[in-house]
Amino acid sequence: MLVFEGVFAGYGGSDVLRGVDLVVEKGSLTCVVGPNGAGKSTLMKLVSGLLHPRVGKLEFQGNSIARAAPRQILKQGIVQVMQARNLFPELTVRENVELGAFLISDDALVKRRYAEVCEMFPIVGERAKDRAGALSGGQQRMVEFARALMLDPLLVSLDEPSMGLEPRAAKIIYDSIVKMHENGRTVLLVEQNVRAGLERATRGIVMEAGRVRLEGTGAEVLANPQMRALYLGGTIEEGAVSSSAAARSGSATYQN
Ligand SMILES: Nc1ncnc2c1ncn2[C@@H]1O[C@H](COP(=O)(O)OP(=O)(O)OP(=O)(O)O)[C@@H](O)[C@H]1O
Ligand SMILES: [Mg+2]
Repeated sequence: MLVFEGVFAGYGGSDVLRGVDLVVEKGSLTCVVGPNGAGKSTLMKLVSGLLHPRVGKLEFQGNSIARAAPRQILKQGIVQVMQARNLFPELTVRENVELGAFLISDDALVKRRYAEVCEMFPIVGERAKDRAGALSGGQQRMVEFARALMLDPLLVSLDEPSMGLEPRAAKIIYDSIVKMHENGRTVLLVEQNVRAGLERATRGIVMEAGRVRLEGTGAEVLANPQMRALYLGGTIEEGAVSSSAAARSGSATYQN
């Protein structure tokens, strides 16, 4: 559904991503993990059109989105929830959610979608008239998810949605992500809680220093002994090299 091939991208002439090959399959819950600064958020900025590849291929459903503007990407069915919280705190919960439908001019459709997201995220209906800023961090995340679903996206991309949440609130967020996935959305998730993310993912991707270094099913990646080394400040060893295509079809393997 979403394909990165040989993607280099960065800021002000220096590359952060250095040859990213990555496929997000339709219907998957693909979880990207990796140490701070690995380039995960940079990857997500490419997906939403906030940044463009310097070189390389970036396609969504067979169409290049390498040069697409954020609005064009939204129209194609990709919606992103950013790493930083970005509700309008002075607007109500309902107003914030309805802003997610700004590309839809059909009021009846907006109303129907709003009812659907309230069903999925009851907090939205319960707190509809409250200022968004009055909600807890976890509740605000839920409102952001609801806003993202107003466009009925094909792909939802989430950058560290559990960041800054206490464990119980984070668990509710993980459950919501699984629910979105079970409802038929393809989900691309960046998660700093490696275990929580990979346990729920159908596909696990490990990034390090701007490249994909390990991939497999979520369980395979989690069980890989190299993961421990990486998170204890080490690095994934070179060698045992395979193409990304082989990595996708087989068990967890490495790319050089
Ligand atoms: N707007 C920017 N301008 C210049 N450099 C940036 C910018 N945003 C990120 N970088 C740099 O790009 C590198 C990768 O950052 P990125 O935010 O993609 O990492 P990350 O994997 O998301 O890390 P984290 O786990 O901390 O969120 C870092 O070295 C960072 O300093
Ligand atoms: Mg990040």
